[in-house]
Amino acid sequence: MTKLGESQTKLLEIALKGMNNAFVLWGFKVGSAVLAEDGEIYEGCNVESWISGLGTCAERNAINHAVLHGNRKIREIAIVMDSKSPNEPKPCGACLQYIHDFAENSKIRIVMAKAEDSKALFETVETKTVKELLPFPYRR
Ligand code: THU
Repeated sequence: MTKLGESQTKLLEIALKGMNNAFVLWGFKVGSAVLAEDGEIYEGCNVESWISGLGTCAERNAINHAVLHGNRKIREIAIVMDSKSPNEPKPCGACLQYIHDFAENSKIRIVMAKAEDSKALFETVETKTVKELLPFPYRR
């Protein structure tokens, strides 16, 4: 279990709020929240489609939410996943690249937790840097 600071706990709680709006047809609910360069927190949820690949992950929607408000960089991101799989909570490869693209630097933290019945399971919390989860990002 990773001990969280007050601001990380707040980020996780807003990610949970985002998760409540998840549009799920075949998968599980995911919520995310980013602390943007303007100091505000923007949440997101996953939005699924019956067409494979057409839906969007919660992390990318949270980042897009921050961009819509004029941000270009994020300082931290939290993710909650309502999944029982031992592979979660972890962002997918596409989201890791996207997080990297908008991260202020590669040391920003990704706070991850499982959720159940709209509650975060604090004993499952893990935090990693972008660099730890994506050591070789694509860049040009
Ligand atoms: N999902 C996310 O929202 N974020 C990730 O990083 C991985 C997966 C979503 C996609 C799909 O709606 C559901 O979780 C199951 O894969």
